[in-house]
Amino acid sequence: MDPADVPGLTMHTVTEGETGGLRAHAVYPSVSDAPRLTERLHRTITEHLRSFNQANRGGTETGRPGPEFNVDWQLPTVSTQMMGVNLTIGRTVDSRWSEEHTTVWYDRVDRRVLDSADLLKDKAALGELARLTRDQLGRSGSGIDPEAITADARLFDSLAFNRRGDLVAEFDDQQVGAASLSRVAVPAAKVKGLLSPAGERAQRSAVEFGAGVDHRAERMAKYKEYAALPVAESTAYGSVDCAKVKCVALTYDDGPGPGTGKLLDALNAQRARATFFAVGTNSIAHTALLRRIMREGHLVGDHTWSHRDLTTLDDSRMGDQFGRAQCTLGRAVGRHPGLVRPPYGAVNDRVPPVARQYRLALVRWNVDAKDLQTRDPKAVADRVVSQTRPGSIVLMHDVGGTAAKATPEILRRLRDKGYTFVTVPELYGKAGMKPGEVYDSGEGPREMISADGSQG
Ligand code: NI
Repeated sequence: MDPADVPGLTMHTVTEGETGGLRAHAVYPSVSDAPRLTERLHRTITEHLRSFNQANRGGTETGRPGPEFNVDWQLPTVSTQMMGVNLTIGRTVDSRWSEEHTTVWYDRVDRRVLDSADLLKDKAALGELARLTRDQLGRSGSGIDPEAITADARLFDSLAFNRRGDLVAEFDDQQVGAASLSRVAVPAAKVKGLLSPAGERAQRSAVEFGAGVDHRAERMAKYKEYAALPVAESTAYGSVDCAKVKCVALTYDDGPGPGTGKLLDALNAQRARATFFAVGTNSIAHTALLRRIMREGHLVGDHTWSHRDLTTLDDSRMGDQFGRAQCTLGRAVGRHPGLVRPPYGAVNDRVPPVARQYRLALVRWNVDAKDLQTRDPKAVADRVVSQTRPGSIVLMHDVGGTAAKATPEILRRLRDKGYTFVTVPELYGKAGMKPGEVYDSGEGPREMISADGSQG
């Protein structure tokens, strides 16, 4: 099922205040009729985040990207009876990336939150599932160590069904040996008789409605479909020559979310344009908001699929971060985003060539509103107004709420100083923006940092 069609679905983003200032990005879904599920997901994520914060209290080694925490999610199954939420919780451990998977279920019939193991009838059924999994592994030659599979509910904390009704168990990195394949599907016929009534409902729901869990290899093929879309423009309200007038590009990252609508109202009230760098995992649930952003003359850019530090990813995973977000944006607004904001502003020499392949110009900023670090809109407005120069690119966020509150004052005060509010490409006028180039601002003589990091 398309998340955009799930009634009452919205996204929550864990923001700076909760992250202890470390590089953490976590998004989790909620559905209006399942507050207990929201509580559980929030608790799961904050517990992991707390342990990450404690482990990294001492600061970081210099010269390496800092430790990072990230949560990605999928909905393996949604029906009127059952809903599954699959979380991938990743973190840096000893300079290496490590991921855990967990699937929490919500039984809409009994209004209960279930762990994955609750899909099974009893302890004996868990034992039988462990045996079937070992059996399956013996055949697949997957590299997972069959001996590591025991009847432990913590090991089977990520269970879902595919469209055939097979039970799919997902294992964490290093949990069951150094495996690249971390999923095992036990055929439907073999799990018959092992399932609890809720498990049977989940299986039926998956067969009837389940989209299943999306795999990277299958996604890569889809990117081509969206790669050729025309690049989004925002000329609906006429164009501005930023070589002649004082321009500033306000940018809002990490949404869309529950606060984006209010921010759009504030911008529209003063006829100001802005650029929204949308995270893919938020965008899939908020396609109507993306369309509204474009309809009202603003621009939507790509802020990657799940907000990982791109400099820590290999080229294929980096491409997946770009492409997956682009598909979602392309489907929602029928345009190619053309721009990407690298999460944390992090770019190394490997990022620009991959961005170029995906037809994306890299946009950083030269004014940081630091709106996630405070709840004081006045402080945010003061910082932005005092640091803005003609051609500035201002970083704010449409999650967290402080920037939305500060925006009316920012618009008023900068307008009094003679500024016009434009989207990022308008700063560069006819010269345009080139895929794979890095742009920090349109100030002074038009300068770009080329792919090899030199000015020119
Ligand atoms: Ni961000």
